[in-house]
Amino acid sequence: MSDTALRSADLPLGAADAVLNALPLPVIIVAADGRIVDANVAAENFFEASVLLLRRQMLRDLVPFGSPLLSLVEQVRHRGAAVNEYKVDLSTPRNPGDRLVDLHVAPLPERLDHVVVMLQERTIADKMDRQLTHRGAARSVSALAAMLAHEIKNPLSGIRGAAQLLEQSAGDDDRTLTRLICDEADRIVKLVDRMEVFSDERPVEREPVNIHVVLDHVKRLAQSGFARGIKFVEIYDPSLPPVFANRDQLVQVFLNLVKNAAESFGGATAESEIQLTTAFRPGVRLKLPGSKTRVSLPLEFCVRDNGPGVPDDLMPHLFDPFVTTKPTGSGLGLALVAKIIGDHGGIIECESQARHTVFRVLMPMFTGDGAGPTSA
Ligand SMILES: Nc1ncnc2c1ncn2[C@@H]1O[C@H](COP(=O)(O)OP(=O)(O)OP(=O)(O)O)[C@@H](O)[C@H]1O
Ligand SMILES: [Mg+2]
Repeated sequence: MSDTALRSADLPLGAADAVLNALPLPVIIVAADGRIVDANVAAENFFEASVLLLRRQMLRDLVPFGSPLLSLVEQVRHRGAAVNEYKVDLSTPRNPGDRLVDLHVAPLPERLDHVVVMLQERTIADKMDRQLTHRGAARSVSALAAMLAHEIKNPLSGIRGAAQLLEQSAGDDDRTLTRLICDEADRIVKLVDRMEVFSDERPVEREPVNIHVVLDHVKRLAQSGFARGIKFVEIYDPSLPPVFANRDQLVQVFLNLVKNAAESFGGATAESEIQLTTAFRPGVRLKLPGSKTRVSLPLEFCVRDNGPGVPDDLMPHLFDPFVTTKPTGSGLGLALVAKIIGDHGGIIECESQARHTVFRVLMPMFTGDGAGPTSA
């Protein structure tokens, strides 16, 4: 399609074009018949073709056969509403290699039969399958956890009992030592208890849970303890439907995330702020590993902080067990969070930079028939 045709279609050109071309993300406009009518510079780079060449092509020529992008474009044109799709592979024989992208597809306000597609290439770290990594990590500790539970807890209770007996006849100096034995034994039991959760393969008992009640409870716990004096901001969508989950486990998840946020400040200042947000995002559909269907994960819960951010080199391993930068941390917090969210059919991801770190939990919606996740 020529420039003249574009202008007559009243598409934003001129200033809008300059803005589009300055964007680092590939953007293309697709007409009703599937023809590409415009593309920005980033799209030219992405598809390795000039805009003139692109305008002579159909969208289906650029993407793999049967690509979800094609049905998404149709869906958007049909519904007139924007849809996102995450982790779609756009590699073709002509454009091979790792081409995992997030797709943002929206109708063009002036021309509803035209559709704008924005692609967001995933970073290398992101390309590692997040859930696979997390679930694999959780599995790798599960055998170890089961062994630890049996082999360590029993002798430990013996050691603790013996220390308590000794305490009764010990002098003051020795009593400090017996106290030390008990305290350290308690610390190991606590660690083993946390590990035990990983070996628990039983299906979780779930019920419809109001996430706002959970978040309020977590906030109260935090403010009376580790997050004393830290400012909390809550941005809730009050109409959010319930999440089909195990309430206690959800408390554990958000307690861990809020605790990490609070700890990230080092010493909290007047600026330190933790934000809890909930939102409904019906456009999000994801393909889970090992399954062909895409699940809809419309419930979004975020914990944000304005601390220093997660160190870059930690990012790819963030949800692995025993990854910690804290002198007394066990590095089990986020591994546990990932395991619980995975057991609930959801996912967790993290974006982080200085003064802006967000842990985003995406969960399926409660269908009311006890079936759990809705698939699409
Ligand atoms: N909000 C955050 N801001 C900055 N870094 C974070 C944040 N959350 C997690 N991290 C980093 O990720 C690491 C792993 O977190 P995780 O909760 O798994 O373990 P931990 O907090 O170190 O120990 P534990 O939770 O067992 O007490 C932390 O040590 C920290 O370096
Ligand atoms: Mg932690």
